[in-house]
Amino acid sequence: MPDFARMSPTKRKTRSPKRAVSDRTVDVDLLLDGTDIATPTASVPATILVTDSPSVRSSFTSKPPRTGMQHPSAPIKVGVLGATGTVGQRFITLLSAHPWFVVDALGASPRSAGKPYRLAVNWKQSTPVPQAVREVVVRECKPEFFAECKIVFSGLDADVAGEIEEAFRAADLAVFSNAKNFRRDPHVPLIVPLVNTSHLAIIPQQQTLFSPPLKSGFIVTNANCSTTGYVIPLAAMERAFGPLEAVMVTTMQAISGAGYPGVASLDIMDNIIPYISGEEEKIEWETLKILGGLTTSEAEDADGNGKTGTGTTTMAFDMHAAHPLRVSASCNRVPVIDGHTECVSVRFARRPPPSPQQVREALAAYTPDAQTLGCPSAPRHAVVVHEEPDRPQPRLDRYYQDGAGVSVGRVRQCQVLDVKFVVLANNVSIGAATSSIINAEYAVLKNVVQL
Ligand SMILES: NC(=O)c1ccc[n+]([C@@H]2O[C@H](COP(=O)([O-])OP(=O)(O)OC[C@H]3O[C@@H](n4cnc5c(N)ncnc54)[C@H](OP(=O)(O)O)[C@@H]3O)[C@@H](O)[C@H]2O)c1
Repeated sequence: MPDFARMSPTKRKTRSPKRAVSDRTVDVDLLLDGTDIATPTASVPATILVTDSPSVRSSFTSKPPRTGMQHPSAPIKVGVLGATGTVGQRFITLLSAHPWFVVDALGASPRSAGKPYRLAVNWKQSTPVPQAVREVVVRECKPEFFAECKIVFSGLDADVAGEIEEAFRAADLAVFSNAKNFRRDPHVPLIVPLVNTSHLAIIPQQQTLFSPPLKSGFIVTNANCSTTGYVIPLAAMERAFGPLEAVMVTTMQAISGAGYPGVASLDIMDNIIPYISGEEEKIEWETLKILGGLTTSEAEDADGNGKTGTGTTTMAFDMHAAHPLRVSASCNRVPVIDGHTECVSVRFARRPPPSPQQVREALAAYTPDAQTLGCPSAPRHAVVVHEEPDRPQPRLDRYYQDGAGVSVGRVRQCQVLDVKFVVLANNVSIGAATSSIINAEYAVLKNVVQL
C-alpha cells in the first residue's frame, strides 16, 4: 500500500469528498442535579469533576463511534501553525494525548523558527511541554515544511493567518483555523462542532473554486470564543422549540482570550474593561452563519446573467434568513484568566414560549452529531445544566470535561424577552483548540479529510 503521508500533496491519492449532512438526533443526557430525563433511576455524577489528567480525560473521550463509522486504522500526521501561542499550546497539550493525531510539524513566526520547541515557546500550561514535541524544531509557516501532514491546525495571529492559511489550502492541505480571516468567506464553513457540523457539506464547492480543483485542500474555521460558548445552548433551544427571534448577550471575557501577554496587568487588575475591539460585531454576525442553514440553488452563469440550465447547483449560507434573528452583544474584559461567562436572554418565535424548566430539560438532553458519531474529543455532556443558584463560575467549572462542553445555570424567566440564563465556556478549549480538533475528527469520520 502506498504511503500517502510521504507523498507530495500533488501526488496524493484523490477521492471524491463525501457530503457530510446528517440529521441531529436527541439522546439521553443528565442534569447535574441528578435528574435523568429519560431514565429517572440512572446514577449520576454527584460532584463536578475538575481535572486535566489525560487518563481521566480519555475515560470520557475515547469512545467508539455509535454509527458504524470507522476510526482511522493508522495514526494521522498533523501540523500546528502558531504552535507557540496561547491557542497553539492548548493544541499541543490536547494533541499529545490524542488517539488518532500525531504532531509531525510545528510552525510559528520567524522569531521562533529554527529553535527546538521547548526553547521557542514561553510555555504557560500547567502540565510540562509534552516529551514528543520538546525537541521538534519550529519551522516558518510554509507548506513545504508540512508536506507529510494530512491536517494542519492553525492558532495563528489574525495579522498573518490570511496569507499563510491560503497558501496551505492551495498546497492541498486541510486547514482547521481559529483565526477570524476566513470566517465570513461565503465558501468557508464556520463550524462550532457541537452545533453545525452539517456545514462541512460546502467543502466540495470550496475545492472547485480552484483550477484545477483542489483534491484534499480546504479551510474550515471555528468561531470567536464568545460566539462558540453561547451558540451551543442556543442551538439546543432551537432544536427543541423552533427558531429564536431575538437574543441579548453580555459577555465577561477572560484575559487569555486576548492571547499572550494579553491585557496589561495595570489595566485589568481591580477593573473591568467594557470594550473589546470588533468582538460585538463578530458575535452578532457569526451567530447567524452558525445557526442558519445551507441552501442549494441552481448555478448562475459565470457572467451572472442567468441560470446555467445544466442542473448544476450551488450552496450558500442562509444566515437564518427564513426566521430573521436579531442579536445584540455587549462585550467586557474581566480579571479572570480562563473562561468566558455570558448572560443571555432569548425570545422564541413560538407563542407561548417554553418554560424555564422545559428549556433546562432541552439543554441537558442536547446531543450533537459529533457525540453521536463518536468524535473522541467530544464531551459526554455538550451542555451541563446547574441547578445551584450561584453556578456556573469560571474558577470552578472551566475545566469540567477538560473544557470541552459548556456549563449553563440560572435558567429563568426574562421579563423583557422570554428566558434568560448564564453560560460559561473555556475560551481556549471549546472556544478554540478543542473545537478545531473535534471539527477535524468529524471531517475524518465523514471522509471529508483525504487519508
Ligand atoms: N486566545 C483565545 O482564547 C482564542 C480563542 C479563539 C480564537 N483565537 C484566535 O486564535 C488565534 C491565536 O490566538 P492566541 O491567543 O493563541 O494568540 P497568541 O498567543 O498571540 O499567538 C499567536 C501565534 O501566532 C504566531 N505568529 C505571529 N506572527 C507570526 C508570523 N509573522 N508568522 C507566523 N506565525 C506568527 C506566534 O508565533 P511567535 O511565538 O513565534 O511570535 C504565535 O504562535 C488568533 O487568531 C485569535 O484571534 C484565540
